[in-house]
Amino acid sequence: MAGYVVVGSQWGDEGKGKIVDLLGTHMDMVVRFQGGNNAGHTVVVNGKTVILHLLPSGILNKDALCVIGPGVVVNPFVLFEEMDKLADMGFDCSNVRISDRAHLLMPYHKYIDELEEIDAGAGKIGTTKNGIGPCYADKYNRIGLRVCDLKDPQVFRERLKTILEKKNRQIVKLYNGKPFDYDEMVAQFEAIRPRLLPMIIDAVDKVNKALDDGKNVLFEGAQANMLDINYGTYPYVTSSSPTAAGVCTGAGVSPKKLDRIIGIAKAYSTRVGEGPFITELHDETGEQLRKTGNEYGATTGRPRRTGWLDLPVVKQAVTINGMTDLAVTKIDILSGYDTLPVCIGYEIDGKVFDTVPASISDYEKAKPVYKEFPGWKEDISEVRRFEDLPIECQNYVRFIEEYCGVRICLVSVGPERSCNIILNELI
Ligand code: GDP
Ligand code: IMO
Ligand code: MG
Repeated sequence: MAGYVVVGSQWGDEGKGKIVDLLGTHMDMVVRFQGGNNAGHTVVVNGKTVILHLLPSGILNKDALCVIGPGVVVNPFVLFEEMDKLADMGFDCSNVRISDRAHLLMPYHKYIDELEEIDAGAGKIGTTKNGIGPCYADKYNRIGLRVCDLKDPQVFRERLKTILEKKNRQIVKLYNGKPFDYDEMVAQFEAIRPRLLPMIIDAVDKVNKALDDGKNVLFEGAQANMLDINYGTYPYVTSSSPTAAGVCTGAGVSPKKLDRIIGIAKAYSTRVGEGPFITELHDETGEQLRKTGNEYGATTGRPRRTGWLDLPVVKQAVTINGMTDLAVTKIDILSGYDTLPVCIGYEIDGKVFDTVPASISDYEKAKPVYKEFPGWKEDISEVRRFEDLPIECQNYVRFIEEYCGVRICLVSVGPERSCNIILNELI
């Protein structure tokens, strides 16, 4: 076994960072394959909390090569800020590499993201305003700048000149915004070039050679299935494919090389930003979940919307990703409820569905169909064996397994690396 994948199965923030860090201690390489610094992955080791945005969550394992893959959109200024912060905390970042094919997330992408959100008014997506959508849009529109373009300053300058003229026209004419100064931007990139150049690699070659040599390579997904550009609650999604298939396109790896695909599911649901959320709680219970679960965005600090576990959502992620395993996180947060409703279907126009609707108008009509589980009162954060969990908690977990048709490999009962109940060894 060599190729491992960790992906989110809801709307992000399931605890992917924690599980990647846990597995990271056994990895030779940890690779991000999509997204950018919209991600906020929290790792807690010995009471120290680290939030990672662009750096792979394998960074705390100093023996793992951390690769920012071809499918990622890279804001190099944010990357260096993050590396400097980690260095200040005493972590070694000399093992970070960046794919030559990754797209550069430029200052105008971030600005356009902000302008577009303002312009959309009530119709906004609720993005992280980090420029992710505009950067991917340019990539597919074939007017992106890539990391490899920085290798030759003249190529970079020439391409930037043409592109920036276009972007400035868009900024000024469409949004009445402030144009960027070309010389200033060239100087900004000239300043970081010497630091970036030694980190650039042919990641496709490096990753495939590692896999072919039988090394352990972990692909770290950001965001999640319901934020996927194809399968999420479009248009309230991100602009990449955070699925196992995204590993193939975003890291240049064959599906044949992915041996274990581990989905992460939070024991309840959260969402940041706008968009449908059928099991959302607008009451005190929702507030209680937010408070006890500390549900505030790791990237933007925004309060996360909260609700009961929505199993058709998780099941869709199991199917699309071809998950071999599911890790259930934050179950400790569910202690103290008399009953725990779990959504097993949606009623739309009098019919019940157990699949996720495509259209926003169906979402608006959908009512959750709940199965109620008796809750438990005990604090379970110190439990390390499944059979020591309250029987109600065991039943809750076993139902997820049964409904989704995938084995549960791990139940996480706290943010620390060590707070886990292992059901099936991961490595
Ligand atoms: P990611 O984006 O999927 O990596 O998740 P985030 O880091 O954005 O959000 C998950 C939050 O839950 C972080 O604050 C983690 O430290 C925390 N966390 C992860 N697993 C557990 C768990 O099992 N129990 C509790 N109480 N917190 C957890
Ligand atoms: P991690 O990796 C939760 C959400 C944003 C917004 C939508 C589009 O930490 O799980 P974008 O900036 O990507 O264009 O925003 O996607 N979003 C996330 N929500 N966790 C994330 O990442 C997210 N990354 C983006 O809130 O609704
Ligand atoms: Mg997060």
